[in-house]
Amino acid sequence: MTDSNSMIDWFRASTTYINAHRNKIFVVLLSGEALADKNLPNIVFDLSLLNSLGVKLVLVHGARPQITEALEQTGIQSSYHRNLRITEAKCMETVKRVVGGLSVSLESLFSMGMRNSPMHGADIRVCRGNFVTAMPFGIHHGVDFHFTGKVRKIQASAIEQQLAHNNIVLLSNLGYSMTGEVFNLTAEEVATETAIALKADKLILLIPNDGVTDDDGNLLTSLNEEDAKFYAAKLGEKNDAESDCISQALYASLRAYANNVHRSHLISYKQNGALLQELFTREGNGSLISSDNFDQLRNATIGDVAGILSLIKPLEENGSLVERSRELLENEIENFKVIELEGSVIACAALYPITKEYGELACMVIDPCYQKSGYGDRLLSSLETVARENGLKKVFVLTTVATHWFLEKGFEEGELDDLPEHRQQLYNFQRKSKVLIKLL
Ligand SMILES: CC(C)(COP(=O)(O)OP(=O)(O)OC[C@H]1O[C@@H](n2cnc3c(N)ncnc32)[C@H](O)[C@@H]1OP(=O)(O)O)[C@@H](O)C(=O)NCCC(=O)NCCS
Repeated sequence: MTDSNSMIDWFRASTTYINAHRNKIFVVLLSGEALADKNLPNIVFDLSLLNSLGVKLVLVHGARPQITEALEQTGIQSSYHRNLRITEAKCMETVKRVVGGLSVSLESLFSMGMRNSPMHGADIRVCRGNFVTAMPFGIHHGVDFHFTGKVRKIQASAIEQQLAHNNIVLLSNLGYSMTGEVFNLTAEEVATETAIALKADKLILLIPNDGVTDDDGNLLTSLNEEDAKFYAAKLGEKNDAESDCISQALYASLRAYANNVHRSHLISYKQNGALLQELFTREGNGSLISSDNFDQLRNATIGDVAGILSLIKPLEENGSLVERSRELLENEIENFKVIELEGSVIACAALYPITKEYGELACMVIDPCYQKSGYGDRLLSSLETVARENGLKKVFVLTTVATHWFLEKGFEEGELDDLPEHRQQLYNFQRKSKVLIKLL
């Protein structure tokens, strides 16, 4: 296959995700470390692309390493208690200067519309404001944190007004109090509280690693609440900067999760394109913290064609399924049911009425990552219900590789002669498919 063919396939397969993400709110955390990484221009480009595709974006940037460096340059040593910076009044001018400078730099990156830049014509508008109300973190264990603050309120409706105009909202780790003071917050907290206040569809946390890995270094592409708690605690004990960052991101995901933001992604800020891969491909490229129960069994629509095509393609290539063109699928889409999980089609099957009494089950495919979880059983039961509702008395399936599976579901082996006559004429003798029939 040529590069351009695989690009075409990838682009088509991504339609499902483009449709799923349109008009959804994503809150993205860009830590100070991410801002300092050489991959930042690519991240900004990919975020601009998301904005162009109709995703409503709120970006929250941090400034931790930059503040530390600037304070050192002015001769002020940062002091911490339990890993949280104590921001004394003498630090605040530096903090405001550094954070303001980073916000402006980000805005300028989003404004790049030069004719020879990839963002030419994108016309991205970024807006900032006093959207975060803060209060002092207070005195803990006898330690006064001074101008280190915590989030008191996120001005959600003001942010939503900006998002409605397709503006990207840019927040930082600074918040403003009712008394007119500025407080130094953690960007993680601002991002999490913003996601909760906006009832965001996703919280995206950019981290230095590819995601959460197990003891053998394998990337865990999806974690439920229990896994996230386990790894957050485990990584928190390691006492190195990277593990600490992932641990904090997991705790942020858990807090968001407990407050109805059910999807958080941990994605590398170092890897070019990781954000797009995670959001627009089935394989992903990061760790998703989500509920297990987000699947949806429903009638397929024309928007599912790309997802179904990518699901059935490997089986068509190995000869397990008869080939179906995009056009054929589009014409026959009303016969299909799909199961959608996290915006992606993970299973499909079709029921074709052949005669008044006889229906054919076909194209039943479960994504290999999700097999043996009962999805096949659920799809089959659902199509059998449809068949009964339509007055069909029996269904048949022609299969080369799943005979036993269907036999266990109450099908019996039949003969070609048992099928309606015009269906017999279409039988492909080279495939040698078994005929399996079930009385409803
Ligand atoms: C066959 C298929 C639809 C089953 O879906 P599924 O969601 O994995 O099935 P369920 O979870 O409901 O059932 C899983 C059980 O079926 C068994 N099973 C899966 N595929 C099987 C097969 N081809 N033959 C016999 N048993 C099979 C599993 O081993 C498991 O049994 P266990 O619980 O005793 O371990 C799925 O494996 C698939 O998509 N296969 C490739 C495409 C295909 O062959 N489609 C049928 C042609 S129309």
